[in-house]
Amino acid sequence: MAGLSLKPYMPQSLTWRATLILLLPVVILQLVVSIVFIQRHVDDVTAQMTDSVLVELNYLLGEIDSARTLEAARLVARDLGPKLGIRVTIPSQDDMEEGYRWYDLSGGPVIEALRAGLPRTIAIDLVRSKSSVHMRVPTRYGNVDLRFDRERVSASNPHQLLVLMLFTGLLMTLIAYLFLRNQLKPITRLAAAAQDFGKGRHVAYKPSGAREVRLAGLAFLDMRDRIERQIESRTLMLSGISHDLRTPLTRMRLELSLMDESEETEALTRDVADMERLVNEFLSFARGDALEAAEPVDAAELLRDFVARSERGGLPVSLARCDETGTVQMRPMAVQRALDNLVGNAVRYGSHAWISLEAGKRSLTIRVEDDGPGIPEVQRDQAVKAFARLDPARNQNLPGVGLGLSIAADIARSHGGQLRLGSSSAHGGLRADLLLAR
Ligand SMILES: Nc1ncnc2c1ncn2[C@@H]1O[C@H](COP(=O)(O)OP(=O)(O)OP(=O)(O)O)[C@@H](O)[C@H]1O
Ligand SMILES: [Mg+2]
Repeated sequence: MAGLSLKPYMPQSLTWRATLILLLPVVILQLVVSIVFIQRHVDDVTAQMTDSVLVELNYLLGEIDSARTLEAARLVARDLGPKLGIRVTIPSQDDMEEGYRWYDLSGGPVIEALRAGLPRTIAIDLVRSKSSVHMRVPTRYGNVDLRFDRERVSASNPHQLLVLMLFTGLLMTLIAYLFLRNQLKPITRLAAAAQDFGKGRHVAYKPSGAREVRLAGLAFLDMRDRIERQIESRTLMLSGISHDLRTPLTRMRLELSLMDESEETEALTRDVADMERLVNEFLSFARGDALEAAEPVDAAELLRDFVARSERGGLPVSLARCDETGTVQMRPMAVQRALDNLVGNAVRYGSHAWISLEAGKRSLTIRVEDDGPGIPEVQRDQAVKAFARLDPARNQNLPGVGLGLSIAADIARSHGGQLRLGSSSAHGGLRADLLLAR
């Protein structure tokens, strides 16, 4: 049945669909009713009008038939014809074919009625002239041609009603379209607000329009508030924990400095310093996450800076391709954090990272490739989960907690995108695509 589906032919926008649903039944009903009505009306009027013309035709033909000579018949035709409004030619001249134009609504009924009243008629021609009827009838003096005004047998312009209907139909469509478009604007605005929120942008939105749409808008606002509150309280809790950890860590460092120096205290001091660095880093990350808002950023610029900085820091990183993107709405710190994680993985599990930026119509793709072992397809979903570390044999000596990929994926999602893992065809290792909506 798929072949018969009407879907591809249906308009895509709600406005046009609603207009169609509203108008189609009305138009079809109107058409059917008026065609039936017009046909009947035309038939009735034609029958009545034709009857009176037939009386005159029969009288005239009777007079011609009863004339003694051809001359007398011609005289009758010349005298009587004009009085009855009928022009007579005796005998008939050139050929005549019966017929009427396809759009001539009353043509069929006229011919039918004339033939019924004058069965010996040879031909009735409604094509030759729009405004008159040509008939050919046999008489005692051969075939005669009769001509009279079309107005005498049919109502004038029966299709006027159809034209009027078509015109009002179009007018109504236009009016319905205008009204509906106004009604649907609030839905479009709601869709845009929801879409922006999905891309991590907070855009001012005020519900408006019909009650149902306003309700949906209010529900959306509630939902957005709740999600934002949740993110906020999560960040607050985590930063609170890191903040509170700083005090015991400071105490430990002081205590260690009072102890006698030995190999153990040295190792412990290093660990404590590591922990302090982590805690501070997390605090600044939480602060950035809470405060950072999306802003217009030149993505190509950001990437070039990032690569230059990494190279200066001694990381084996190179920029393979960099499309010009112009400015794009994003949270630059977050995107850099995602990149840090992906590049960190690449140089940890491989030996070199190749970065590229590809600009699509609706999205940006930042690609990080390496020459390491890659991740087998079946383990990719697993690798992105928080605290997931694959293949202990491979990672044994490498530090890490298994958060890098899940952080990158989270940042991609908050930009209306996603993190896609694949295998690099050029370098043989992992290919991580960070997709961001633009
Ligand atoms: N470029 C890569 N090549 C091969 N394996 C990778 C690569 N990146 C990630 N993996 C695998 O995916 C797992 C999860 O990576 P993820 O970055 O989330 O955590 P991690 O690197 O182990 O720790 P963290 O990033 O938190 O320090 C890694 O343990 C590793 O097995
Ligand atoms: Mg990592």
